[in-house]
Amino acid sequence: MTDYALLERQLAALLDTRDWLTNAAQTCAFVMQEVGELNWAGFYLHRRPMTLVLGPFQGKPACNPIPFDKGVCGAAARSHATQRVDDVHAVADHIACDAASRSELVVPIIVDGRLWGVLDLDSPSPARFSAADQAGIERLVDTFVAASDLPRLD
Ligand code: SME
Repeated sequence: MTDYALLERQLAALLDTRDWLTNAAQTCAFVMQEVGELNWAGFYLHRRPMTLVLGPFQGKPACNPIPFDKGVCGAAARSHATQRVDDVHAVADHIACDAASRSELVVPIIVDGRLWGVLDLDSPSPARFSAADQAGIERLVDTFVAASDLPRLD
């Protein structure tokens, strides 16, 4: 099992600048390295009205842009709630960027009540993400937010 309390301390130490772009790049590289069975980890940013724009990521080149009314990322953006999908093939409007993806976790990043972006994790294993993984990744997102100056992007 992933020791998210340890990862939280390591990530906080890694993010030693206030620069959100540097910290976003470091965060997704760190998650990709430390969390098992992932094929994609990255940020989509709320840079245009009702639209997510691809940000720093690790993995194959990805779909861009994603409107709020599409896909698992769009559902997280609309609802401000984490989306944990055990089987992406069961989600009608799932956007398949990498055919290897089977399960997905999308955590919205909320700043002052407003959507700033999302952190999206994909796994080639079905039902890769447990409730404990969700809670752990949400804590890592909190660590990223606390460590970074996050200007409005849109
Ligand atoms: N599968 C996502 C799109 C982003 S990629 O997985 C990187 C979705 O349905 O929103």
